[in-house]
Amino acid sequence: MRTHVVDHPLVTHKLTTLRDERTDSPTFRHLTDELVALLAYEATRDVRVTPVEITTPVAPTTGVRLASPKPLVVPILRAGLGMLDGFMRLLPTAEVGFLGMVRNEETLEASTYANRLPDDLSGRQCYVLDPMLATGGTLAAAIRFLVDRGADHITAICLLSAPEGTARLEQELADLEVPVTVVTAAMDERLNEHGYIVPGLGDAGDRLYGVVD
Ligand code: URA
Repeated sequence: MRTHVVDHPLVTHKLTTLRDERTDSPTFRHLTDELVALLAYEATRDVRVTPVEITTPVAPTTGVRLASPKPLVVPILRAGLGMLDGFMRLLPTAEVGFLGMVRNEETLEASTYANRLPDDLSGRQCYVLDPMLATGGTLAAAIRFLVDRGADHITAICLLSAPEGTARLEQELADLEVPVTVVTAAMDERLNEHGYIVPGLGDAGDRLYGVVD
């Protein structure tokens, strides 16, 4: 597994406002959108393309188009949904599948409660959207789910990552033959006793969409 921390002043600038507890939900959603587009630019560096011949007003030339099958984008519900628009702006022809994962707040283990994905993902590049790589349980389960269906190239985009979650992901996915990359805006210090990233930004779902009791 490869982890790519996008070290860019614009990314850190937007992330700083995102972290700030005074940032309201509309601003948080807008900034998430902008941040994801920047991360997606890095994350799609390996997107598959095929050569095409075209003619400009001046001369014939060779370019590229996105290869078939199209990439599949998979936001992990609920908070991953807040990352979808930013990603789709960069890759509007990607297909979208949904994966609902819930974390048991006592055991911190993840399980799937809903999915809307093609049964066969053979030969598909998948982009998983999950804002917080905290314990790593959710992301590890989601990636395994996609690989079990045949996905052969996985890139996860996370706004923030914790070292503990990154280590767990590496360990849990060590047997996979499929390349897995995590693209993230920052590697934070640690997890606290509640499984929150420190300094983090709090509960990403709540900050995007408000608190659900
Ligand atoms: N999920 C969140 O929304 N925030 C964290 O810090 C950890 C998990």
